[in-house]
Amino acid sequence: MAANMDLELLELADTVELSPLAEAALEGLTKRPRQMSPKWFYDERGSQLFEQITDLPEYYLTRTEIALYEDHALDMVDGIGAGAVVVEFGSGSSRKTPLLLDALDRPAVYAPIDISLSALREACDRLMDRYPRLSLMPLQADFTGGVELPHTLDSEAGPRLGFFPGSTLGNFHPAQAQIFLQRVLKLLGPGASLLIGVDTVKDVGTLLRAYDDAAGVTAAFNLNLLSRLNNELDADFDLLSFAHEARWNAELSRIEMHLVSTRRQEVQLCGERIPFLNGESIHTECSYKYAPAAAQALFERAGWVLERSWLAPEDAFAVYRLRAPA
Ligand code: SAH
Ligand code: AVI
Repeated sequence: MAANMDLELLELADTVELSPLAEAALEGLTKRPRQMSPKWFYDERGSQLFEQITDLPEYYLTRTEIALYEDHALDMVDGIGAGAVVVEFGSGSSRKTPLLLDALDRPAVYAPIDISLSALREACDRLMDRYPRLSLMPLQADFTGGVELPHTLDSEAGPRLGFFPGSTLGNFHPAQAQIFLQRVLKLLGPGASLLIGVDTVKDVGTLLRAYDDAAGVTAAFNLNLLSRLNNELDADFDLLSFAHEARWNAELSRIEMHLVSTRRQEVQLCGERIPFLNGESIHTECSYKYAPAAAQALFERAGWVLERSWLAPEDAFAVYRLRAPA
């Protein structure tokens, strides 16, 4: 009897479901090199810290991309008819979206997709006031897992326009970026357009400063991942014993963000003891940078046709308009 009960308890323990964050942390942090997907940055505080990053003097990406929309939004949406259905991937604060919405002819629907519920809520509250006639269809989803659009969109006849700003494409490995773009092509359908903002390769100093600012906001953003593991999974990361580091990987054309253990230590996470050597890192993000020719090749591998591109002064950032074959 007692043995049977033990067995039942064991089986119960086996079937206890781990949260997606716990599964990802156990998978990524018990192997070497230790790593986590950047999608876990974006809890409420992570989304707020990202917004602060976008205003940093070193983080040229946001202001450079915004200037491109300010100067060229009308051109960018040229030929896209009235009543567009705009679907944004990784919309965050939707700060750039009004520049497109204002250029479009009476857009009908805005469907922002983001993993961060707090960011979606705040963005939609603001947009609702500003665009009372626009139908808002926010979707909280992890777009790495494949996304389905709300069925209410099926009856919307307007042209489909995807929007993927911020160089979030760069946070995918190139093979994943291709799969993502293929999925977006299928999701938006034949004849759809996609406006996509992608950061370019440039001098290493500028790149490194953008990911390691003097005020330490990017460091706080990176370390917030460990706070999240402590808060949500009851882990015991000592935040003072991990240091933010940005590295340029020239061979792979990417910035890497790491959290480097500054001493030999052990961390408890979901019943596992995870050892860290002094200097051992958790790789938390890649931010691939694409020369325009490399970006074009990626889009074409994914089945999109490049229609036009807009380059910022000194080729500091690029926005591409792509078309899904009819
Ligand atoms: N588009 C905005 C925000 C970019 S920050 C801009 O250009 O400034 C990246 C955004 O993508 C964040 O809001 C984050 O929450 C979201 N994000 C990151 N990974 C995601 C994922 N796997 N699925 C859905 N959203 C994701
Ligand atoms: C959202 N993403 C494109 C940002 C980037 O530049 O890779 C996230 C970020 N990481 C550090 N600073 C900003």
